[in-house]
Amino acid sequence: MKAGYLTLALAAAQTLPAADGKEHNIANIFKPVTTPGTQILDIATLALAVTGVIFVIVAGLLIYILVRFRRRPDDDRQEPPQVYGSTQIEAAWTVLPILIVFVLLMVTARVISGVEDAKPRSNALKATIVGHQWWWEIQYPKYGIVTANELHIPVAGPQHLATFLTLESADVAHSFWIPQLGGKMDVIPNRNNKMWMDPKETGVFFGNCAEYCGTQHANMLIRVIVQPNDEFMKWVASEQAPAVNDASLAPQRELFESLSCVNCHTVRGTPAKGTFGPDLTHLMSRRMLASGMIPNTRENLREWIKDPQTIKPGCQMPDMQLTSAQLDAVTAYLSSLK
Ligand code: CUA
Repeated sequence: MKAGYLTLALAAAQTLPAADGKEHNIANIFKPVTTPGTQILDIATLALAVTGVIFVIVAGLLIYILVRFRRRPDDDRQEPPQVYGSTQIEAAWTVLPILIVFVLLMVTARVISGVEDAKPRSNALKATIVGHQWWWEIQYPKYGIVTANELHIPVAGPQHLATFLTLESADVAHSFWIPQLGGKMDVIPNRNNKMWMDPKETGVFFGNCAEYCGTQHANMLIRVIVQPNDEFMKWVASEQAPAVNDASLAPQRELFESLSCVNCHTVRGTPAKGTFGPDLTHLMSRRMLASGMIPNTRENLREWIKDPQTIKPGCQMPDMQLTSAQLDAVTAYLSSLK
């Protein structure tokens, strides 16, 4: 079963839709492309340099002493002279660390307050991220869009200087982290956390949930698609459009609407109004399924609906026990939702 699924995923990877922008496959904390990310890297580098120098001095002295004063065959086996107390040395190793910690503390406090106190300008994009077990809901209240797992944002420019995110959780604590776009931010029930990013480069950036939140914690991937402003606005317009209603797929749509899928999923403008699972209005505009696990192809979609528990064990979507004909119909309808 597992091997079969793997072959399927590999085969599907060949037919992935063309990437919109450069893929930054390695989520590298040393290559930030936002102001908060760069500032965090700067203090991390400073802390690493300071502690690195301390490490080299301490380890160097230790190695020197171990070698210089090791036991030798011609030792006289006498205890060496014992020395107690040295005001100078004790003062030095008290004052120096205090100074070092104070410098690191001040620099860190300045960066943290600088990043956290930034207020959104009037032209900032605002989006809300809601962590769920085990996927991300993404809302753009201003545009009336709800999507999942793939956050589209504009590159920093005159139209949109930055994106401000409000982070909420529908269940347990998660943590939102896209290494190249800034620091981690906890996603906590009954609390709104904030973060912002002003990516200077377009492309696809990868992230993951960074707080253990249950069995499928590792499969809570995030893709951030940073686009030029005009492309972003085009994407907004296509997401705002009503769901495709293909008359030739009416029986398939009616079947979907008669199943309990609609208790958890929304297709805007239809009786499907559930909010427990991802919004499916423009399902096929997303590149991946199951929160970044498998490419969103028709074959994978059918496999996913057939038995989500094989692909993502423990996930909240049950095996609906559909017949093969029902599976074909539901897949046909859902894959029309471009
Ligand atoms: Cu969500 Cu870990």
